[in-house]
Amino acid sequence: MFSLVQKCIREVLHNSPLRRYFFPKYLYNFTPPQLCFLCKCVEDVRDVPGVTAELGCANGLTSVFLNKYMTEQGIDKPYVAIDTFSGFVAEDVRYEVVNRGKQERLFKRFQVNSKKWYDKTMRTNGVTRVTSIQADVNMIDMRILGPLSFVLLDVDLYRPMKKCLPELYEQLSPGGIMVVDDCDAEHVRWDGSDQAYKEFMTGMGRPARILHGKLGFIQKDR
Ligand SMILES: C[S@@+](CC[C@H](N)C(=O)[O-])C[C@H]1O[C@@H](n2cnc3c(N)ncnc32)[C@H](O)[C@@H]1O
Repeated sequence: MFSLVQKCIREVLHNSPLRRYFFPKYLYNFTPPQLCFLCKCVEDVRDVPGVTAELGCANGLTSVFLNKYMTEQGIDKPYVAIDTFSGFVAEDVRYEVVNRGKQERLFKRFQVNSKKWYDKTMRTNGVTRVTSIQADVNMIDMRILGPLSFVLLDVDLYRPMKKCLPELYEQLSPGGIMVVDDCDAEHVRWDGSDQAYKEFMTGMGRPARILHGKLGFIQKDR
């Protein structure tokens, strides 16, 4: 009898919004080793002047994680987060479909979001150093960001990645680090990142360095 009641409670919880409280799921877009690596990068550029930037910040999970790390470690640099806060832009998706043979339906993600929600998530988590910017990265002149010490570039598709890489590199301070997410040629949906990263590194005459399965690494010489 007792186990039947327990079973019923479990069933109810599994189908209710309380499920996340009782049966929490791992929510991050990065694995623990990848998050540790991002923190190590932030640590390694501690003395490199410039802003920390995340291009493609979605709902702020990684922003909160990295900002908590920075606070705990006494790294006090401005953090700029950019996103459309409404998913992919039509031109970027069209490029994937027309030029890279992808199906449009693959890119219907990240649409349910808003800058207001992102900002509230920062406040709820006690994160105060983030400035969020709602924009299409294709339309931004990256010089507005000023010198950069660490950049997480995470906008997934070929066209915006290709545009951002040289501009961000130009802004990177000597010794600064840029991490490019989704550098995985096997991933049908996001392999545009991999292509853009590899083309950029080839253009620079440097070998591609992909760590933890998908993180393209770039460090500017000191
Ligand atoms: C994989 S998510 C970012 C995940 C986030 N960095 C994290 O770790 O939690 C990719 C984000 O890039 C944004 N994005 C895609 N194309 C963009 C563009 N052209 N301009 C600005 N943001 C873009 C999407 O809206 C989406 O939120």
